[in-house]
Amino acid sequence: MINKKAILNLEGKDPIKLNVLSGTLGNDVIDIHLLSSQGLFTFDPGFNSTASCQSKITYINGEEGILLHRGFPIDQLARYSNYLEVCYILLYGEAPTQEQFDVFRVTVTRHTMIHEQITRLFHGFRRDSHPMAVMCGVTGALAAFYHDSLDVNIERHREIAAFRLLSKMPTLAAMCYKYSLGQPFVYPRNNLSYAGNFLYMMFSTPCEQYVINPILERAMDCILILHADHEQNASTSTVRTAGSSGANPFACIAAGIASLWGPAHGGANEACLRMLEEISSVKHIPEFIKRAKDKNDSFRLMGFGHRVYKNYDPRATVMREICHELLNKLNMKDNLLEVALELEHIALNDAYFIERKLYPNVDFYSGIILKAMGIPSCMFTVIFAMARTVGWIAHWKEMHNEIMKIARPRQLYIGYKKRFFKTNIKHQ
Ligand code: SDX
Repeated sequence: MINKKAILNLEGKDPIKLNVLSGTLGNDVIDIHLLSSQGLFTFDPGFNSTASCQSKITYINGEEGILLHRGFPIDQLARYSNYLEVCYILLYGEAPTQEQFDVFRVTVTRHTMIHEQITRLFHGFRRDSHPMAVMCGVTGALAAFYHDSLDVNIERHREIAAFRLLSKMPTLAAMCYKYSLGQPFVYPRNNLSYAGNFLYMMFSTPCEQYVINPILERAMDCILILHADHEQNASTSTVRTAGSSGANPFACIAAGIASLWGPAHGGANEACLRMLEEISSVKHIPEFIKRAKDKNDSFRLMGFGHRVYKNYDPRATVMREICHELLNKLNMKDNLLEVALELEHIALNDAYFIERKLYPNVDFYSGIILKAMGIPSCMFTVIFAMARTVGWIAHWKEMHNEIMKIARPRQLYIGYKKRFFKTNIKHQ
């Protein structure tokens, strides 16, 4: 919605009038898409001040620590909904009726099996491969099996691919874990919940019936909700960029998984647990805080800070509650929680972190919860990818429902001017 103008005054140029667009919430944006016709680009490495698209899916207010999915606050969804209902809301924009939810749930459940030949793909990897490397590979390879849903210009194809991805990610994720253990893959069960099915495929074995603990099932479902979507983060932007070329949905999600793996992004939960284990005791915290503040030390406090949140990440608040609740219900003690709580307390009272508005983010507590559930740290980002698949798909579908342009950023060129080439090589 255009309701204001911006005037760009540049020396030696006539003033340039730019439209200012307002959304329903958040900052206004200056529409610069025609600026290149005036011989100008804007410069914003990391896109700190750049809106790449318009979207109705998720809204974040970083200053106030607000996260809304289709307008619904994340803490209300975590408390009163479940992951599949949140998936429906993200994908279709409204809370489903009971009938709509039942149809959605059955459709997702009925697509959880994978093509049997995909199991042979796993056997091409080393057993000690990082599960994220395997997830990248097998997710992209889905395009080699599901040819009947690859034409991104056909809405029905997009819908089928969306369901296949949402349904099969838990199956593939659990297979990564089983493969790393040398244990047989476990088929999904249609009578289990989404989170319960994942735990079943992770921990069941042919020789012993795995009984799902409802406390773990609920905690896993909450973790999936808290990781479902987060507007234009690095991996979602990667999915949108890949999708803007018309790439098939499996390739786009594989690209998102690759981007999420980085320790500055989704890899932070695994890195955060390793950091807490390295700190190991409250008495070592000051040394690590000192390192985190030292510009000459590449060490950063994993699970702290965020490009957008300059306040508490609302997901971290819920995650911390789940952490306490789970450890109490399981009657578990974990000194890492004690280390994390003390680390949080010290950091939040330290001028360095206060000045830079660095708060715990979604990754700070999630590792402690997943470890308490018996999940190895190498699987943490795989679970993040599994949960975020619905967000990636929602943004990919939203992009396709609009007039789509290929993502092609420009640059500030600082290399050589034109010069003549003279080889130093004796070419054959
Ligand atoms: C996720 O985008 C999303 O929405 C992501 C995500 C999602 O759901 O998709 O929320 C998930 O990726 C959460 C973030 C997980 N990453 C980590 O926990 C890794 C540790 N955090 C940092 O790497 C960092 O905070 C980032 C990458 C998350 C954000 O970096 P920015 O916005 O680019 O900030 P910056 O690097 O410019 O830092 C600003 C200042 C710098 O100091 P000065 O140069 O101003 O002196 O804060 C410092 C940084 O050195 N700083 C930290 C720090 N994070 C920032 N110092 C110590 N420890 C940290 N964790």
